[in-house]
Amino acid sequence: MRSYLGVLVLLNVAFLSAKELYDSKLDRHLIACHSTDFTCFKKQYESFRNHVLLGNPRLGVEEYEPYYFRYGDTGTCIGLAGLEESRLTGVGLDSDENLYMLVLELPLKIQQVENFTAPACSAPAQEFQSIGMHTGPLKRFTGNATIQITFPYELRKKKGQTHMILGEEGLDVILDIPDLTQFKFGNEEDRKEYELSEWAYELVQHIDAAEEFVLPYTSKIRKINEKIPVERYLLLYPEEQYTDIHFAFTDSPFFDVIVSKK
Ligand SMILES: *[C@@H]1O[C@H](CO)[C@@H](O)[C@H](O)[C@H]1NC(C)=O
Ligand SMILES: *[C@@H]1O[C@H](CO)[C@@H](O)[C@H](O)[C@H]1NC(C)=O
Repeated sequence: MRSYLGVLVLLNVAFLSAKELYDSKLDRHLIACHSTDFTCFKKQYESFRNHVLLGNPRLGVEEYEPYYFRYGDTGTCIGLAGLEESRLTGVGLDSDENLYMLVLELPLKIQQVENFTAPACSAPAQEFQSIGMHTGPLKRFTGNATIQITFPYELRKKKGQTHMILGEEGLDVILDIPDLTQFKFGNEEDRKEYELSEWAYELVQHIDAAEEFVLPYTSKIRKINEKIPVERYLLLYPEEQYTDIHFAFTDSPFFDVIVSKK
C-alpha cells in the first residue's frame, strides 16, 4: 500500500459564537460516554454523524455534499465522498495539553461526473493541465482514507454548564490508493482496475484533500460544540473533573492518539 500524506495546520479561522441551545430532538441523538468506554465513543460518533454532521436544519448545519472539483478541460468534475460513512477509530482528550483528538476512517469514493450534473464544481487550488475532452465511460475508484483531527480547546462555564470551546483544528490526512502494479499484465479486467488506481492516485496527489475535502466537515464539529455542553458528551464518575481528564483509544494502524502522562 502506498500513501499520500497531507498535513494542514490552520490558524485564524474565525468562528461564530453561538446561541445557547436546547433541542429535545438533538438530545435524543447525543450519546454521552464515560471516559473509559471506547465502544460508546464509536456509537456516539455514529449518531452524531448521522443526525448532526450530515445535516441538521435545526442546528443550521447544511446537508453534506461530496466535494466536486473541476477536472481541467475534460468537461467533467471529480466528486470526492465517503465522510458520510466515516467511522471513529481513535479518540482522546488531554486536559494538560488541552487537546481533543479524533481519528476517522472512511472509504474514499472518487467519482467522475459530467460537469453539468455536479451541484457545485469548484476550481481546485491548482488547476489540472489540459487533458482534452473526456470520452468513454466515466471513471470511479474507491480507496480508503484516515483522518486525524486535533482540536485545541478551552473549558468555559456558561450558566452552570461546562462548554468545550474548540479552536482551529490540525488535520493529518492519509489517502490510501492501493498499488495494483501486479495487475498491469493481467487480464482485461485487472488491467482496467490497475489503470483506474493509477488515475485515482494521480488525482489525489494533485489536490489538497485536507483543506478542500475534510475541513468543511470537521469545521462543523467545532461549531456544534459551542452549543453542546461537554456533560452531554462526556460523563464523569464522581470525584472526576473536566479540568483533569486523560484518555486515549485507537485501533487505527496509522495514527496513535497520545496523551500526556499525569
Ligand atoms: C463543461 O466543460 C466544458 C469543457 O471544459 C465547458 O466548455 C463548459 O462550459 C462546462 N459546462 C459547465 C456547466 O460548467
Ligand atoms: C479499505 O479498507 C478496508 C478495511 O480496512 C479493506 O478491506 C479494503 O481492502 C481497503 N480498500 C482499499 C481500496 O484499499
